[in-house]
Amino acid sequence: MTRVLVTRAIPERGLQLLYDAFGKDAVTVAPQDGSMARADLLAAVKGVDALLPMLSDAVNGELMDAAGPQLKVIANYAVGYNNVDVKAATERGIIVTNTPGVLTETTADLAWALLMAAARRIGEGERLTRSGQWAGWGPMQLLGVDVYGKTLGIYGMGRIGQAVARRGLGFGMKVLYTSNRRIDEATEKELNALQVDKDMLLEESDFLSLHMPLTVDTRHCIGAAELAKMKKTAVLVNTARGPVVDEAALAKALQDGVIFAAGLDVFEEEPTIHPELYKCENAVIAPHLGSASLETRSRMAEIAAGNVVRVLRGEEPTTCVNPAVLQG
Ligand code: GLV
Ligand code: GLV
Repeated sequence: MTRVLVTRAIPERGLQLLYDAFGKDAVTVAPQDGSMARADLLAAVKGVDALLPMLSDAVNGELMDAAGPQLKVIANYAVGYNNVDVKAATERGIIVTNTPGVLTETTADLAWALLMAAARRIGEGERLTRSGQWAGWGPMQLLGVDVYGKTLGIYGMGRIGQAVARRGLGFGMKVLYTSNRRIDEATEKELNALQVDKDMLLEESDFLSLHMPLTVDTRHCIGAAELAKMKKTAVLVNTARGPVVDEAALAKALQDGVIFAAGLDVFEEEPTIHPELYKCENAVIAPHLGSASLETRSRMAEIAAGNVVRVLRGEEPTTCVNPAVLQG
């Protein structure tokens, strides 16, 4: 019998696809709502043909071997797949898929929510009003920085980076970007975007939004040296992955006024957040909500489950991250 393990409850639409294809008995959904403990995951994965993990699950060679040689597909419930050892999967002939595209606009919305909240000190204002200490309108109270007409920096101009840049048009923004690949000229023109080197991006951006994947090359690509190059009035937004920013260096920069504020959705050691960051009034801290809309999570479930169904039926998945396995 086919066996599928889903490591955490996902929207019904995805589960239903799996039930329809393989029968309800074939599908195990982790019973608790929380990340599976490692030992439970290692035990539960035994004998499965397909694994649908969350980004909080470390899917490494050990886990693949614990599953056994019948494991054919790892359908990660995220666009980012730094939690999966893709090389180990490829060596074992296991297909790895992600959920790109469907969460692009949703994540770009969240980046903007953080950008605006950090610029206009919404977190501080909310804490003030709820504290019961608010004494009324004040000429010097919680003064933020303007967004309209400023320079928006995008670090990593993939799908999400471009979607964030596009929203800047409505705010009359000029866009600078640093990326491995240059986007085509027509898109640059449409987005009012100019490719620049990293130093210029850091020096010129009023708002810097990060959209690169986490790799060995991007780990801590924003650290003390980079923060020092930014404007004192700048706002940093991270909806990518926590470890691309040196969190201790960021907390220090926020405390010392090296930059104005930060809007953060991701952290180096989730769910732990650097204790110094909690002390920063000028940090807006969200609990990894980038793709968290009802519509998008449902589409992600559909894609991930659809990939499981396709692969186990011997068809190609729609969004493969290690296509070498398909050829081999
Ligand atoms: C969320 O962080 C994702 O990569 O989908
Ligand atoms: C992710 O989907 C990206 O390419 O930005």
